[in-house]
Amino acid sequence: MDVKDTKILKIDSNNPEIDKIKSAAEVIKQGGTVAFPTETVYGLGANALDTQAIDKIFKAKGRPQDNPLIVHIAQISQLDGLVESIPEKAFPLMEKFWPGPLTLIFNRSSKVPDKITGGLSTVAIRMPNHNIALQLIKHSALPIAAPSANISGKPSPTEVSHVVDDLFGKIDIIVDGGSTGVGLESTVLDVSSEVPVILRPGGITLEHLLDIFPKVEYDPALEGLSQDIVPKSPGQKYKHYSPKASMKIIQGEIENVCTRINELSEQYEREQLKVGIMATKQTHHKYDTTKIMIVGDREKPETIAANLFSTLREFDKLGVDIILAEGIDEAGIGKAVMNRMSKAAGGDIIYTD
Ligand code: TXA
Ligand code: MG
Repeated sequence: MDVKDTKILKIDSNNPEIDKIKSAAEVIKQGGTVAFPTETVYGLGANALDTQAIDKIFKAKGRPQDNPLIVHIAQISQLDGLVESIPEKAFPLMEKFWPGPLTLIFNRSSKVPDKITGGLSTVAIRMPNHNIALQLIKHSALPIAAPSANISGKPSPTEVSHVVDDLFGKIDIIVDGGSTGVGLESTVLDVSSEVPVILRPGGITLEHLLDIFPKVEYDPALEGLSQDIVPKSPGQKYKHYSPKASMKIIQGEIENVCTRINELSEQYEREQLKVGIMATKQTHHKYDTTKIMIVGDREKPETIAANLFSTLREFDKLGVDIILAEGIDEAGIGKAVMNRMSKAAGGDIIYTD
């Protein structure tokens, strides 16, 4: 692949400098690639209506062609030309949660390139809640396709340094707009059926959605991960967010979890493996390994969501062989945290009680 002269453009997310926004927007209009921050994770953007531009995204990320992209818009009127119709259920959601970390699945318009939808009859759309993202979309006057700005399979980027590590030399511009907020990708919700279905849990939680609808379901594929013990199957197709080290999640009553992690840690160290422990504010003092990272506060799961991906990347830098991670409660955003952790671990979860 061509080596590109990637430009890093620092933009103030509180008050985006309009000349810089315009220069990034120009690159989008010309069919180039721009990584930019959103409130969830950094995205790798290109003109959603330009097949060649979209192709550059897939190449830079090494993304499988059948994995569809989310289209980002800055105003509801941009749905015209992207979707065939807007289901009734979408209106209260757009009203309440846009801009925000909620992606909705619509029946696509024929104008949406097949490359965006991976050949599906639907298209995923969201309006991000971030000044830079919104300004970039407005000034390019285009819908912007943007998957997370990481190499496929790696943890999503929540800091500009993560984007630089993965994509420098492969794309045109990296906008440095500081840390993202939520830290996990948007909730993906299918509103085409009678009961709305969460395909990917995220910042807009089941609890938020139940404020609007009497019933909301999780996609059964997600529920499959919470069996008693999910064995790490070789060749598991959907290992995402994966650090270089192998990872094990220990779930259950916290005292038992700490005990089990200490036992496992000793066992692996006897085998000459370098162990990293992903602990929390409440528990880090219970371990004696040197490589302990505090991912956040168990009582504030949003802090764990915000730090999870950067913590996984830090473990890579420490060069550990195995990460032992404490599970957390699945209420609220905890569901999304456990979904990403479980994928990072290839489904390897030990239940202690
Ligand atoms: O927060 C986010 O959503 C970030 C930021 C950059 O906006 N983007 C993001 O994109 O996470 P990506 O490509 O990493 O994840 C998109 C997810 C994938 O799981 C994809 O399979 C799903 O959305 N998706 C896209 N189009 C879909 C469709 N038509 N039907 C079902 N799932 C779809
Ligand atoms: Mg992604």
